[in-house]
Amino acid sequence: MVKKKIVITYGTFDMLHRGHMRLLERAKDFGDYLIVGVTDEDYDRSRGKLNVAQSTEQRVEAIKAIEFVDEVIIESHRNQKSEDMVKYKVDTFAIGDDWLGMFDYLNKYTQVVYLPRTQGISSTQLRSDIFGTVKLGIANLGRNTKQFIDESKFVSNLDINQVYSQDSKAMEEFTNESNDVAHGYNNYTEFLGGDIDAVYINCQPDERYALIKKTLEHGKHVLCARPSDLSDMQRQELLDLAKNKRLVFLSELKKDYLSALNHEPNGCGFRYMMAEFTSLIQRNSVKS
Ligand code: CTP
Repeated sequence: MVKKKIVITYGTFDMLHRGHMRLLERAKDFGDYLIVGVTDEDYDRSRGKLNVAQSTEQRVEAIKAIEFVDEVIIESHRNQKSEDMVKYKVDTFAIGDDWLGMFDYLNKYTQVVYLPRTQGISSTQLRSDIFGTVKLGIANLGRNTKQFIDESKFVSNLDINQVYSQDSKAMEEFTNESNDVAHGYNNYTEFLGGDIDAVYINCQPDERYALIKKTLEHGKHVLCARPSDLSDMQRQELLDLAKNKRLVFLSELKKDYLSALNHEPNGCGFRYMMAEFTSLIQRNSVKS
């Protein structure tokens, strides 16, 4: 009996598109039996893919529905690939050439092939087309502003494009040094008149209420680090204002909150954006 040639590939396959389909078709051409490893949500987050639009289940279902895919498995940890090569007696491991060289270590178990990526399409692009880009300004430079901006690059639908600080010298130094943020303001009204949809407010407790209120009055969404400094009355007033103006006032944002984005603050529909401090970027001086 002739042994079936086993081919395996892995990916997130978010919002399945023709680039994925072409990759899978060409992978299948290397053998008789195609196994597709779909990354699970936790694994994706741990490797920096923070805003995948579809759940693991939805992505698995989409791949299962492809007639020439023979088996779907879940990829949930870093060393799984080498374990799978042995477990499934894989003859060929195929992956797009955006990973060129990265899986050469698997050559000791199987044949590794890198296939040219289909140009002009990606899940990142599709997410951006569908959900749009949120332009976020930062109100007040802080110790962690640079970290916040660096980590925001892991979020494909987020563009941090301007900062505000009362300290014009600090603000000038920051924008001169930053490759990402070109616009700095030390007048808050002018800052709000800039090209932004939302503001991350990171200011002193005594300024917080006034700044949030002004931001909402100008029609911009608000993300706020420490709303606990507000009184109950102030918080309720600001939430009512946000609701009337159909804006988001995300009132439970903390440095390591993540799960706070999974609930809707008081009926305001926060649909799609993530911003967080993580340990994705290691820094000696900053505890993350
Ligand atoms: N792929 C491809 N051509 C594309 C997009 C993806 O050949 N235009 C391949 C990748 O190289 C990989 C597999 O499809 O082997 C799964 O890729 P995945 O990362 O899930 O898709 P992307 O569209 O690259 O996703 P993202 O934009 O989120 O990185």
